[in-house]
Amino acid sequence: MAKQSKSKKDRKTSAWFQRHANDPHVKQAQREGKRSRAVFKLTEILDEHGLIIKKNSVVVDLGCAPGSWSEEVGQRLGPDGVVIGIDLLPLNPIEGVILIEGDFDSPEGQRALDEALNGRSIDLVISDMAPEMSGNKLVDQMRMIGLNEMTLHFAKAHLKPGGALLMKTFMGEGYDGFRRDLGSAFKSIKNIKPAASRKSSPEFFLLARDFKG
Ligand SMILES: C[S@@+](CC[C@H](N)C(=O)[O-])C[C@H]1O[C@@H](n2cnc3c(N)ncnc32)[C@H](O)[C@@H]1O
Repeated sequence: MAKQSKSKKDRKTSAWFQRHANDPHVKQAQREGKRSRAVFKLTEILDEHGLIIKKNSVVVDLGCAPGSWSEEVGQRLGPDGVVIGIDLLPLNPIEGVILIEGDFDSPEGQRALDEALNGRSIDLVISDMAPEMSGNKLVDQMRMIGLNEMTLHFAKAHLKPGGALLMKTFMGEGYDGFRRDLGSAFKSIKNIKPAASRKSSPEFFLLARDFKG
């Protein structure tokens, strides 16, 4: 029987698997028993940009599945520290981490976070959330900025004065206006493209520090 030629989608999928299998950060994550290679983006930002997590911090992790960021933060906290993570997807439990399965960008998700916070203010909000990619650059960009705006709104409502916000974003339509809004709420902002973030990915991170309150 004649061999069928692979569809464009199949070729893209097998290229992704090939790249994934050869990725040094994937291999390192497997060796070190991490839930995801994404952890190395966070550790670089924490360690090389001097974002210190105090032992008794309250940290909220938005878009936390499969859980490598929450796990890393949990390991840096003492017994009085708290990590609350939310994701659309279910996660395997992480010791010492309060996990919520839900949509951050929904009234139910916001309610669940409020309940988990139980009146506590937050020291650090971290967000690795990205929209599900549609393939349409403008649509994906606008969805990303929408998530960023919602994240900033949440941070402004819950952060302690002096607190910090780390979030993933994409450069493009809507970014400049969002960056200005962020600048009016925090004293310092840095754009970071960690080494573990693939060059081919449009993502980078905004580290906003010293919330004005
Ligand atoms: C790159 S992954 C996060 C990886 C995570 N930082 C880790 O280290 O394991 C992005 C996550 O954001 C989640 N996400 C996207 N939009 C969301 C939303 N509106 N509410 C909750 N989670 C969302 C996705 O389900 C996905 O699991």
